[in-house]
This record gives sequence, structure tokens and C-alpha cells, in this order.
Amino acid sequence: MGLFIDSSEPKEIKDLFAWGVLSGVTTNPLIIAREAPDADLGERIREVLAVSHGDVSVELTTETEREMLDEALGYHAWDAQRITIKVPFSEIGLRVLHQLVKRGIKTNVTCLMAMNQAYLAALGGATYVSIFSGRVRDMGYDIRPVIESTRAVIDREKLASKIIVGSIRHLMDVNEALECGAHIPTVTPAILRKMVWNPRTVETIGEFNDAWRKRPTRR
Ligand code: E4P
Repeated sequence: MGLFIDSSEPKEIKDLFAWGVLSGVTTNPLIIAREAPDADLGERIREVLAVSHGDVSVELTTETEREMLDEALGYHAWDAQRITIKVPFSEIGLRVLHQLVKRGIKTNVTCLMAMNQAYLAALGGATYVSIFSGRVRDMGYDIRPVIESTRAVIDREKLASKIIVGSIRHLMDVNEALECGAHIPTVTPAILRKMVWNPRTVETIGEFNDAWRKRPTRR
């Protein structure tokens, strides 16, 4: 089990890794385009690598097999141990996955909406398979059976892939992903902070500290 942060913001990532609960980072082109539209991708990812530990997923943006493979090899060279190539799922994506797996490169097959897709990615040797909770719900489907059946088939077939659940929009999506067998939810900084906050916890700590400050002392 683990927890990844879904962000490319180095300052935020540094702050949140200091909590000691995170074990990796996921990014995608939309996140980077929103957070740092003018940034050089290589510089941005190197900053992320410097302030985090564990695997850092970087997604391919090209669309032909040759281009995707070249792009992947370029990213892999930034940090052969930690860079994980996020491969968008498709027929070409599976071909690229196969080439990367043969080279021993870590992979994260992404944009998965169904168990059958995740099964193919896992059979192809993906290090991670990323199921998109919020986007499945957007289509009006229940995400729980998708996660549960993916975990069941991965366990039954003794496949090595770990299930990441991303596209998490609400706190309850995290609980649900964990309960349904996700190995790793990936959450935005805002969701991670919500996981900490509870009004009753804040109130209780305030009550304890207040009592301590106001205790009757002999001095
Ligand atoms: C996961 O790896 C993705 O980066 C992400 O969670 C996608 O979620 P979205 O639906 O918010 O774009």
C-alpha cells in the first residue's frame, strides 16, 4: 500500500513529503499545463525529483509508436531508477508498453476506465495500472466494481502490477479506493489536506491545550 501525490508543484510536493506519508508522484500533461504552462518539462520534473522520493510518473504526449518510444527514452534518461513512463492506454500504448517492459523501464498505464483494460495493461507487464475514479463516475458508472474486479484478477493471476486509483475528486473517493483494493490512491494536495482535517479533532486538541494553559499552578 502507499499514497502518491498528483501534482507537479515542487514547493507543494516538498511540503507534503515532509509529512512522511507519501511514496511517489504522478503528473499528467493537463496538470503541468495548468500549474506551469511556460515551464520546461525537463526542468520541472527534475525539480519534482529533487524534492520527493519514490517513483515519479511522467506521461507521454506524442501519438505514434516511434515518437512515444523516443519520448519515453528521453524521460527515462532523467532518472533511470525513479522516472516511470505514463503510457496512455490504446493499441499503440500496449505496443509501447511492451517495448519499455523489454528494456526494464518502469511504466504506469493510464486513463483506464474498465477492468478489461487494466487486465491487458497488467498482462503487458505494467508496473502500475491507473484507474480513473472521477472520470468513470462522470459517465454514470460505479467505480467500486472496476477497482474490486481489477484487484481480484491481478491477485488471482499473480500479476505484478499495482493498482493506482486517480481522478479522485472527494475525500470519500480515497476511502472507497482503499476499501475496494487499490494499492495506491493518488491525490491532489487539496485532497491530502482534507484527509488530515476534522473539526472534532481540531476542537479536541484545542480543549486539551486550553486546559493545560489554564491549569491551576502553585507558582
Ligand atoms: C492520475 O494519475 C491522473 O494524473 C489524475 O488523477 C487524473 O485525474 P483528473 O480526472 O482529475 O484529470
